Amino acid sequence: MAKETLSITDNRTGKNYEVPIEEGGVIRAMALRQIKTGADDFGLMTYDPAFTNTASCRSRVTYIDGDKGILRYRGYPIEVLAEKSNYLETAYLIVKGELPDREHYQRWEHNIKIHTMVHENIKKFMEGYRYDAHPMGMLVGTVGALSTFYPDAKNIHDLESRRLQTRRLIGKIPTLAAFAYRHTRGLPYVYPDNDLSYTGNLLSMLFRMTELKYKPNPVLERALDVLFILHADHEQNCSANAMRAVGSSQPDPYAAAAAAVAALYGPLHGGANEAAIRGLMEIGSVKNIPAFIKAVKNKERRLMGFGHRVYKNYDPRAKILKAMAEQVFEVTGRNPLIDIAVELERIALQDDYFISHKLYPNVDFYSGIIYQAMGFQMEMFPVLFAIPRTSGWMAQWAEMVRDPEQAIARPRQVYIGEQIRAYTPIEGRPKPTMREDAVSEAI
Ligand code: ACO
Repeated sequence: MAKETLSITDNRTGKNYEVPIEEGGVIRAMALRQIKTGADDFGLMTYDPAFTNTASCRSRVTYIDGDKGILRYRGYPIEVLAEKSNYLETAYLIVKGELPDREHYQRWEHNIKIHTMVHENIKKFMEGYRYDAHPMGMLVGTVGALSTFYPDAKNIHDLESRRLQTRRLIGKIPTLAAFAYRHTRGLPYVYPDNDLSYTGNLLSMLFRMTELKYKPNPVLERALDVLFILHADHEQNCSANAMRAVGSSQPDPYAAAAAAVAALYGPLHGGANEAAIRGLMEIGSVKNIPAFIKAVKNKERRLMGFGHRVYKNYDPRAKILKAMAEQVFEVTGRNPLIDIAVELERIALQDDYFISHKLYPNVDFYSGIIYQAMGFQMEMFPVLFAIPRTSGWMAQWAEMVRDPEQAIARPRQVYIGEQIRAYTPIEGRPKPTMREDAVSEAI
């Protein structure tokens, strides 16, 4: 039988090394440290900016096969969960690893709902933001501020404390998100209505006006629920990595979650669906698509909402959303951008450039069109992403805290700066020129 090892010859020394291959295709980076030219040599390390080929953890939460277009939470295919589950049940699955029975589900739902209120001081805190503050910036701040309201959350090695913070944050994040939205609109904040479902209550806190009781449209409530299922986790993405990296220094999870929200804020992550919508708006009409495709192929443009670091096939979430868009439009009226998107996809998927580069629609290609049809301003898109992703962040964080192999996240670097230099007193330093250029480049 073939050995599960890798043989390495160091041509500098002629020495041979045998490194174990684990999990069917993983070598430990530390196994390279033994490869040295001499006693003073630090040993080999890998250089992998952006972790494109480095696993930073072992995880049981989410499985992705990017070539086949597979996404599963705890072993359950995303298509099945989107059809049969709801967000709160999926959140339970993600956080706890199993689907709940009825009794556990009811207890979980109750335990989330009793945490939907926020301290009145949080409201005052939010009032301090400028009238035109970005809701995602407000969310970064308020999630971080929760840290000061729950000092008990520092007890991260206590299971009951971790459970409590998880329920608290999943319960409160819709409230923080809705307050941020109402703030941007100059509207009074709406308190949670726990008679409603998780997404029904969110719609109430966002859109309720003078009516005594808000009645969410069931189609939109379900659509939001499906969107939340699809966005609940995506293994070691930028924000999950931020949650784990910040959490690894062992602050309370609110501080780590604030970092995760900040990571999600960027246009390359949670902000990509806004870029996709802007791209479609710019194309403006189906007749302009061929010229746009030509510009993309000439590398003058990028087709936002297409391509993915991991998926080299159709993103399974995009498939679900494409079908769901039509149901939403029956309630909201048709978003004309959908016709441009569908035609763009049809042309792109027959084009050699897209086929050879394995570029397919990703989740952001259709999600923004749906959010826009539902009446959300673009600034709210990443906020709507952050709400369900909270369950993923908490699951990833809890897994990291319990993993004996994890330590404070602290990568190595390849130092390319100056070697030791002598300090010259200020009056003896050469005239600026080169030095100033170097300084201005650095900031
Ligand atoms: N349009 C046109 N060409 C593209 C696109 C695109 N959307 N995406 C990748 N390519 C091309 C690149 O030009 C490159 O071509 P080359 O090899 O001829 O030079 C090749 O495909 C590989 O592209 P990279 O950017 O190296 O791939 P990477 O894995 O680093 O990037 C990313 C993935 C950032 C998602 C990229 O596909 C992209 O920018 N897409 C548009 C933005 C977007 O939709 N982001 C959302 C991702 S999903 C999410 O975060 C929830």
